[in-house]
Amino acid sequence: MTRRVVITGANKGIGRATVAAALERDPECHVLLGSRSPERGEAARAELVAEHPSWATRIEVLPLEVSDEASVTAAAKRVAERYGRDPAPLYGIVNNAGIGLGSADLATILDVNTRGPKRVIDAFLRLLQEDGRIVNVSSASGPMFVSGCSEARQAEFTNPAGTWEDVEALMQEALELKQSGGDFPSAGLGEGNAYGLSKALLNLYTIALAREYPKRTINACTPGYIATDLTRPHAKARGMDPAAMGMKTPKEGARASIHLLFGDPGGSGWYFGSDAQRSPLDRYRSPGDPPYAG
Ligand SMILES: NC(=O)c1ccc[n+]([C@@H]2O[C@H](COP(=O)([O-])OP(=O)(O)OC[C@H]3O[C@@H](n4cnc5c(N)ncnc54)[C@H](OP(=O)(O)O)[C@@H]3O)[C@@H](O)[C@H]2O)c1
Repeated sequence: MTRRVVITGANKGIGRATVAAALERDPECHVLLGSRSPERGEAARAELVAEHPSWATRIEVLPLEVSDEASVTAAAKRVAERYGRDPAPLYGIVNNAGIGLGSADLATILDVNTRGPKRVIDAFLRLLQEDGRIVNVSSASGPMFVSGCSEARQAEFTNPAGTWEDVEALMQEALELKQSGGDFPSAGLGEGNAYGLSKALLNLYTIALAREYPKRTINACTPGYIATDLTRPHAKARGMDPAAMGMKTPKEGARASIHLLFGDPGGSGWYFGSDAQRSPLDRYRSPGDPPYAG
């Protein structure tokens, strides 16, 4: 049986490596390679197919800009028209598209990294099998952000009864704080790192989603510190080689997502480290340390 998987932001970096890893891992897998630029998506597909000619029939480019409601809706419609709605045509959704601090402001980072996955799920959920999988590619910056918050805030970010409305409220509060000068420490929100906040909120959304859809396996993970266009500027700024900075390859960055997509994560609504082991939501766990069991 074909296992069809949508992977967003899959034209480069960890997303592209996840496409390759999924096709290698599961001979029944067919990937809808999400890319906000159809041209960059087709270029990535051509490169992958040049390396593995048999993948020509297993990769299809899906134009998908996660910050644009119309684009996300059109992408879901395209999948439904091509593969039907009943039975639900998708086995999995990997919300990988994301942006780093770079030059983006708080509103843009939240819009892509937190609201982006929500838009994708809202549009695609009805196309996902009842027992399908969702992987939200988060970051260790999420738990690190939470570790710098007040106790009361930590409870909000890790609330097992958390809802999307809680995520929205926290986003609004942070945006208003930013507008009024940005005193995040007084609000119990640490230094207010926009990227960390966006991923901490993505983890909270993962909890809410998993509770709402208990038959599906819905988890978040960090890929680890991976050399991509998102992180290479860190190395460049220090005049260092990415590997010397401890960055790993995009292929290594796909490991946790592949486990959550095809393996047995042992639960839903959890967050996993780059070693594919469960990790806490409120502090950093190093790969190789004992898995979190809370
Ligand atoms: N690299 C790391 O060390 C690291 C660590 C922790 C978490 N992550 C997470 O891993 C994921 C992948 O990051 P990466 O390191 O592979 O970065 P990357 O090489 O910059 O790739 C990001 C991908 O997301 C796409 N994207 C960005 N904004 C988008 C939007 N609005 N709509 C649709 N697609 C969009 C990009 O498309 P374009 O090519 O069109 O820009 C690209 O395909 C992100 O969620 C990131 O936060 C990465």
